[in-house]
Amino acid sequence: MTTYITTPIYYVNAQPHLGHAYTTIVADTYSRFRRLCGDTVRFQTGTDEHGDKIVEAAAKEGVSPKEYVDRISGLFRDTWPLLDIVPDNFIRTTDRNHVLTVQKILQQVYDKGDIYFDEYSGQYCTGCERFLTEKELVDGKCPDHLTIPDEITEQNYFFRMSRYQQDLIDHIKANPEFITPERYRNEVLSFLSEPLEDLCISRPTSRLTWGIPLPFDDNFVTYVWFDALINYLTGLDYPGGEKFDPYWSVAEHVIAKDILKPHAIYWPTMILSMGLPLYQKLHVHGYWNVDETKMSKSIGNVVRPAELVEEYGVDCLRYFTLREMSFGLDASFSSEAIVARKNSDLANDLGNLYSRSTAMLVKYTDGVVPEPVSSEDDTVLRDLAVSVIATYKETMADFQFHRALQAVWELISQANKYIVTNEPWALAKDSGRTERLHTVLYNLAESLRLLTLLLQPVMPGTCKKMAVGLGLEEGSPLVTDLTSCGAWGKLVPGAELRKIDSLFPRVDAKKKKQPVKEESQKTNNKKKKQNHSLSEEGGITFDQFQQVELRVAEIVSAEPVNKSDRLLKLIVKAPEERVIVAGIAEYYAPEDIVGLQVLIVANLKPVKLMGVESQGMVLAAKVEEDGKSRLVLSAVSASVPAGSKVA
Ligand code: MSP
Repeated sequence: MTTYITTPIYYVNAQPHLGHAYTTIVADTYSRFRRLCGDTVRFQTGTDEHGDKIVEAAAKEGVSPKEYVDRISGLFRDTWPLLDIVPDNFIRTTDRNHVLTVQKILQQVYDKGDIYFDEYSGQYCTGCERFLTEKELVDGKCPDHLTIPDEITEQNYFFRMSRYQQDLIDHIKANPEFITPERYRNEVLSFLSEPLEDLCISRPTSRLTWGIPLPFDDNFVTYVWFDALINYLTGLDYPGGEKFDPYWSVAEHVIAKDILKPHAIYWPTMILSMGLPLYQKLHVHGYWNVDETKMSKSIGNVVRPAELVEEYGVDCLRYFTLREMSFGLDASFSSEAIVARKNSDLANDLGNLYSRSTAMLVKYTDGVVPEPVSSEDDTVLRDLAVSVIATYKETMADFQFHRALQAVWELISQANKYIVTNEPWALAKDSGRTERLHTVLYNLAESLRLLTLLLQPVMPGTCKKMAVGLGLEEGSPLVTDLTSCGAWGKLVPGAELRKIDSLFPRVDAKKKKQPVKEESQKTNNKKKKQNHSLSEEGGITFDQFQQVELRVAEIVSAEPVNKSDRLLKLIVKAPEERVIVAGIAEYYAPEDIVGLQVLIVANLKPVKLMGVESQGMVLAAKVEEDGKSRLVLSAVSASVPAGSKVA
């Protein structure tokens, strides 16, 4: 199979922001997914460099348009590697071969009689680089740029778009997959239910010279959209290039809803006029908003991808954008949201599963993947893995990335539960249960292997590390071939684990000391006095008991405290994250308690123990046996939401 996937070519009047990054991450992820399925893939992105907007932006900087476009196009090109985005082709509309292709196509369409000369007046939006119809205006303004368009009357060349209106309607109706999600298909069909006006495709050189000259009239340059859309063909060396036939027949475009009309109406009618088959699919996504407003340069609320990468890491950014946005709908960006995804989904769920499982493999089988014995006890994990793989394949192919990731996280959560239920540390203490211990550890290693395979398109760097840690060779089909290895039980026992750094260093959510409200401080003082006299009476009141805030906390990570044999530093979720230092190192290994739910005192004044601030206390039973005492952590009898109050 072959895949040709494209992003819009971005205007170089602005630097790349999260909106551009998202579309390009989507196309990169999809191309990696297709490669995982064995496809030959071509992934194209690039920059759109002609038109009024570019001239304006260059003038503002006091440089020539050419100098300006070279610089900003370079910024786009240099941003993609930072996001682990690897296009096969980066196209620029100022490239010589693109200019020639546009001119060839214009001549062909002109010769066919689909371009004519006429006078036109209309409402021109410089932001959109096109005339808007009365219907599109909201309160007389462009709804995307919130500016009043200019009234322009001029003589121009027009493309007979109306001639292809019915053919396009028929095609969209016969091919439900042509424009997805469905809401955008409906939007286009509704627009097409009114007669289509012809498209003005030229600009007089008296007004604009920064464009591709019309081959049949050098007093005009080509309208930027007629020029830009053709990039999808130029990138295949059309006409006559070898790439054209295999790739054009499978072309898929990814865009946001802002440019639906040019892609779903101008472009297909242009293709029909050229006598070529239509592209296969148009995938349309929503906007990244900040506080309900579309992120855009003109509004000035942009978030720069390079800064996000620096702060959170590239794979966290890729994961966050794909998981947070339901493809087709708008999503909101906030740093709180990305921190939450990083700490919860990546560090806690995936990172901990990986580190606990590999630590146990190192501890109990010397880091060698052991031989499993098939067991009925493991069907839940196995069956879930099989169904997750199926859902993943279907949803990734369908651009439902958030659903694919949800499914993968079900497997992560099931594997984490599998550790808690099977208690490998207990199995390890019983020499009669070695076979079972090996089976449990194999199943954990196999789960990690499958996760490495499935997450590869989304988090390529992390998966490379995970594969190394699992002792797999670079490029091993076990983590790069979904067709032959996307099934349970492919991991071969005997692989030797290698040490890797932590997958996702946690973002230190600012240590929030529980602020004590003035009111409760006063009450505390009052209660203190009462406390003294009451305790003399041999008991505490219910009021006093209520001053102790007990909560259920989930242990998210555990590690020894430097230079202490007794203390473990725990990060717990209750529901906010906090550090608690507990004197349990003699009784528990750190990896054995991650995931446990324990009871804590949540409103103790923070204290420093061996240099680490402890924000609470874990409750444990003190058991006296044979003259020795040991601590057994408190627990709840069923899993409950972290942070639940103990009444
Ligand atoms: N040059 C045209 C496209 C020509 S394609 C033949 C153009 N360029 S653009 O720089 O404005 O890019 C628009 C695209 O950038 C959107 O369709 C989308 O892919 C991406 N995004 C820009 N802002 C965005 C958001 N706030 N949210 C999501 N995507 C956004 O239009």
